[in-house]
Formats: sequence, C-alpha cells, structure tokens
Amino acid sequence: MPEAADDKMLCYCRNVRYGVVRKVIAEGDLRSPEQVTAACSAGSGCRSCRPEIEELIAEHRRRHRGLLRWLRRLFPSAGARG
Ligand code: FES
Repeated sequence: MPEAADDKMLCYCRNVRYGVVRKVIAEGDLRSPEQVTAACSAGSGCRSCRPEIEELIAEHRRRHRGLLRWLRRLFPSAGARG
C-alpha cells in the first residue's frame, strides 16, 4: 500500500496531518500512541485514528532498525567493547 502523503489529514478531531505525526515520532523516537498524543494531540478525540498512529510508529521502528543494520555493516567494530 502506498504511503500516505505528509499533507493528508490523519486526525480529523485535532486537525493533525500525517507529516506532523511522522515528524514528532521521528524527532522524539516515540514508541506509543500515548506519546504521540502528548506531543501533537493526534488521537485525543474519538480515537479512530489510533490504528494509523500505531502504523506510523511501526513504520518508524522498521526504518530505525534498517538504519541500525546499515550502520553496523558500515562500522562493524562500532559498539564493540574491549
Ligand atoms: S480522528 Fe483522531 S481522535 Fe478522532
């Protein structure tokens, strides 16, 4: 499924767009819908947008893990102790 555009509305109750939610998740490395709600108020109304918020968190985690794998391949000794 194609990724929703940043300017698409995600939370109609609070007028928060996908791009804003992506930004607060990335900047704060947020891991729960409650953290997202605290950061930008998305999900604090009817809560019907929570599945989308959870999907954006999961998307961020997948990207984060992919970046870490890539960095470990580039710098295999980074983080090694001894
Ligand atoms: S659409 Fe987000 S809380 Fe209602």
